[in-house]
Amino acid sequence: MAPSPSLLSILFFFFVLVSFFSPLSHAAKLPFHPEDLLPLLPRQVSWPILNSLHSPVDLLPSFVGAASSQNDTVEWKGACFYNNTAWMEFHNKSGSEFGGGTLHIEVSNAHSWTCMDLYVFATPYRVTWDYYFLSREHTFEFKEWEGRAEFEYVKNKGVSIFLMQAGMLGTLQALWDVFPYLQILDGSLEKWVSGAYAGHTAVCLKDSEGKLWVGESGHENEEGEDIIAVLPWDEWWDFELNKDDSNPHIALLPLHPDIRAKFNETAAWEYVQSMDGKPYGYHNMIFSWIDTIDGNYPPPLDSHLVASVMTVWNQLKPDYAANLWNEALNKRLGTEDLGLPDILVEIEERGSSFDELLTIPEQDDWLYTDGKSTSCVAFILEMYKEAGLFDPIASSIQVTEFTIKDAYMLNFFENNSSQLPKWCNDGDTVELPFCQIRGMYRMELPGYNSMEPYSHMNERCPSLPPKYLRPQKC
Ligand SMILES: *[C@@H]1O[C@H](CO)[C@@H](O)[C@H](O)[C@H]1NC(C)=O
Ligand SMILES: *[C@@H]1O[C@H](CO)[C@@H](O)[C@H](O)[C@H]1NC(C)=O
Ligand SMILES: *[C@@H]1O[C@H](CO)[C@@H](O)[C@H](O)[C@H]1NC(C)=O
Ligand SMILES: *[C@@H]1O[C@H](CO)[C@@H](O)[C@H](O)[C@H]1NC(C)=O
Ligand SMILES: *[C@@H]1O[C@H](CO)[C@@H](O)[C@H](O)[C@H]1NC(C)=O
Ligand SMILES: *[C@@H]1O[C@H](CO)[C@@H](O)[C@H](O)[C@H]1NC(C)=O
Repeated sequence: MAPSPSLLSILFFFFVLVSFFSPLSHAAKLPFHPEDLLPLLPRQVSWPILNSLHSPVDLLPSFVGAASSQNDTVEWKGACFYNNTAWMEFHNKSGSEFGGGTLHIEVSNAHSWTCMDLYVFATPYRVTWDYYFLSREHTFEFKEWEGRAEFEYVKNKGVSIFLMQAGMLGTLQALWDVFPYLQILDGSLEKWVSGAYAGHTAVCLKDSEGKLWVGESGHENEEGEDIIAVLPWDEWWDFELNKDDSNPHIALLPLHPDIRAKFNETAAWEYVQSMDGKPYGYHNMIFSWIDTIDGNYPPPLDSHLVASVMTVWNQLKPDYAANLWNEALNKRLGTEDLGLPDILVEIEERGSSFDELLTIPEQDDWLYTDGKSTSCVAFILEMYKEAGLFDPIASSIQVTEFTIKDAYMLNFFENNSSQLPKWCNDGDTVELPFCQIRGMYRMELPGYNSMEPYSHMNERCPSLPPKYLRPQKC
């Protein structure tokens, strides 16, 4: 009888990839910063007058239309100016490949001398804002489109225009700060959100024939959708070596022998195969992000900001939006199919608040319309959970509450550096506690391999940029 493969020969690695994408460089490219403008405004205007608002729905930016061409004029009634029109003019003043555009906005019929209207202009690639006191034609310059994708988007769908409560400048400023991070609905977002130095994770596992596979949530298929996929190692590695233009940095984190001994491969494979081909889980990723906003802005600005971001995003990416938050919010509320405004009304009727709703932890067994939701890191940890690594406390662990950093902080990995494979960190003079196999900079995983899992781990952790201090046992 052929010996069954020994547990030790079956290496379950955990990957960490980092793309050297700096979120800040995005902000710097935007034409101006709101801080340049806010001091010009009276304090009463530049801080939200939240108490005077009638309903939480008033706080949301309202979509008035999208300006896509000169022929296609948008008309709407504002809060201050009653007659407004907008159209888009494409130009090539920058002499760049895709050129830029001028948004023309004509505002008139103000209902008072002192009122103003505040607008957010958004494409999936940027969000900007402006405010108008004077009846006349205003213009807003988009010097240069970010690339073909934005150019095509604006030509076909236009720049979305949202009217904001004039008192919401504070929210707007915060929206400005967070939006660039939302553009990249993947690892880069997760990186900023969680304080993890890693942007993406995948898992490496051998089958009973000894063939090596990579399981990954967030793999882009031919239709450009992010899905969960199980790929042969060679194919995956070839992509990372030759086709991934994000300059990835990749580390392998081998499991500790005691943990490998605990690992139920049958259960792990069953789980991985049941998830193969399912869509990537945006639902739960967004909730780790929300935790961040929560800790980062003074209440009630935080949840208003979340609601504003959701509204803008709903408009730009309606397919993603329902997927992204509405379903997850409905789950928390125990309702079905409510849109964001209805959710806010429902919360108010129950005497609760949006903040409170957001803090309800995600449950791993919530089933979304597109299946169970797993972000890249939840996919791996759920596999670990199925494989028994969280036993005996598995039933009190919700892996969807874990960020990438929380995952690599678990004390699941090899801690004896002389036990790491020989090819590990080949040619580096500094000994890392894990194997970095790609990238020109040395990777850092603060807190790596240091934390014993405990019941309800990570369900109550604030994550405050820039330091991300983590209270004990949160
Ligand atoms: C706008 O309309 C004019 C005349 O109706 C037409 O010639 C032109 O191609 C249109 N432009 C766009 C961008 O649709
Ligand atoms: C609104 O403004 C547009 C453009 O300035 C103008 O053509 C139109 O007549 C105005 N409508 C009203 C009702 O004032
Ligand atoms: C803009 O001008 C540059 C340089 O003249 C040219 O290469 C580019 O194709 C133009 N882009 C558009 C969208 O017309
Ligand atoms: C491993 O998982 C399989 C499938 O879930 C289960 O049938 C089996 O009893 C487990 N083995 C051990 C040793 O727990
Ligand atoms: C680490 O591994 C080496 C080589 O296998 C072994 O000699 C050593 O005792 C181990 N250290 C610990 C602390 O287990
Ligand atoms: C590794 O962790 C084990 C406990 O899991 C501990 O007994 C051992 O001393 C650690 N080895 C090193 C080299 O730190």
